[in-house]
Order: sequence, then C-alpha cells, then structure tokens
Amino acid sequence: MNKNLRAAVIAGNWKMNKTRPEAKALVEELKPLVKDADCGVVVCVPFTNLETVLEAAKGSNIKVGAQNCHFEKSGAFTGEVSADMLVEMGVEYVVIGHSERRAYFGETDETVNKRLKQALANGLKPIVCVGETLDERESGLTEDVLKRQLIKGLDGVKGAGDIIIAYEPVWAIGTGKTATPQMANETIGYIRRIAKDLLSEDFSILYGGSMNAANAKDLLAQSEIDGGLIGGASLKPNDFSIICNCD
Ligand code: PGA
Repeated sequence: MNKNLRAAVIAGNWKMNKTRPEAKALVEELKPLVKDADCGVVVCVPFTNLETVLEAAKGSNIKVGAQNCHFEKSGAFTGEVSADMLVEMGVEYVVIGHSERRAYFGETDETVNKRLKQALANGLKPIVCVGETLDERESGLTEDVLKRQLIKGLDGVKGAGDIIIAYEPVWAIGTGKTATPQMANETIGYIRRIAKDLLSEDFSILYGGSMNAANAKDLLAQSEIDGGLIGGASLKPNDFSIICNCD
C-alpha cells in the first residue's frame, strides 16, 4: 500500500452474513488482531448489525460502514435506509454501487451517482465500486466500461473529498479468481488517470475480488493499489487481520 501518497484502507464487506451475536463475536475477535494495523480498518456490515458492531468496535481502530444508502433524504421508500439515519448512528462509511447491487437490484450508474451525492451531503465516506464483467474484459471493453462508470458515477461531484474508489472486476468477486497484481495495478492506474481528469484530485483506490490472506501481500505491494475491499476473507478474523497487517 502506497501509504506515503494516499490513505491506505482495508475494508471488509460482510455482505448478507452474520446475526448480531455472530457479528459481535467477530468484531471482538478482530479487535486485538488489527489494533496495530498501519492502515484504516473498516467493516461494512448489514444494516441489522450496525448498532451491535458500532458498540463492539467502540474504543478500537475499527471503523464501521453500511453496504448501501438511499438517494433521497426521507419519504415513501419502503425497505430503504437513508444516509442521515446512518450518520445519526455513528456510521462513517458506505459502500455504493457494488456489482451485486448493479446485477441483482437494478443499480445503475445514475443511481450510483445519486447515492454518492446523498452520502457526501451527509458526511459519509463513500466507497464507490466500479468494475467490468468477464464478457466486457474479454471483448476488450474494460477501459470503456470503467470510464463510463466513473464519468456517470462522479458526475456533478465537486472534489474527491472523502471518496474512496474500489476496483472490483466482477469476474473476480467470490470466484477465487483474482486479477494478477500487475493487471490490477494497471487497471487501477487507468482508473486513477480518469478520476483525476474528472475531479483534478487524487483518490485512494482499493482492489477487490478474491483478495485473501495468501495473495494480499503481492496485490498490496503494487504502487497504484491503496488497499482492499474484502468479501469472503473479511468473515474470518484471522485472515482479515493478515490482510490489514500487510505493509
Ligand atoms: P470477495 O468479495 O472478496 O469475496 O471476492 C469482494 C467484494 O465483493 O467486495
């Protein structure tokens, strides 16, 4: 992780896993393991676990995030949660535009953009996900897709602020297939150039997609990679802590 240039962050994405007692146990186990980590440590947990995890993480270096927020302030949006509800609880981070939300819940570049603006307006630190599918990579469309996701996703946003970008090739998520460190580095370098052109500022950019205790060191040693967004391995305290404790 290029800690001299940009903030390094390792964020866990628990997805739809863990009941409250399980969530508490996981955080309790994680706390001593990551207490000396030389990077930001974040866990993005289901809405139902936020209060439990905030309480369990109190006084530690573990920050708490949600996995989505709605783009309106309040109103008739059954089943949704607003950014200010999260902030009021003490939540600091929010994942926006994860590929699973794009694939299964109708998330588009436009809704990503609206959620991002709402998150920023409320002082949340957004982790905005971008990434190409296997078809898109194999058709040579990776750069076009990422450029479109960034242009539309960041449209009208003023300055990088607290935005973190996560590059997650869809074909690497939960599949055990990781982008090679060189491939991830090159693609994140491309994302950085586009994002810098758009907002004239640098961003912390994370890699996500089957990052684990065994491959994290090589990925995080790459000059463009500022951290990771970790799914499966974030559910195992020991593995997640190995990633957090990489230099
Ligand atoms: P994975 O998930 O680490 O299980 O591949 C990453 C993510 O979806 O954020």
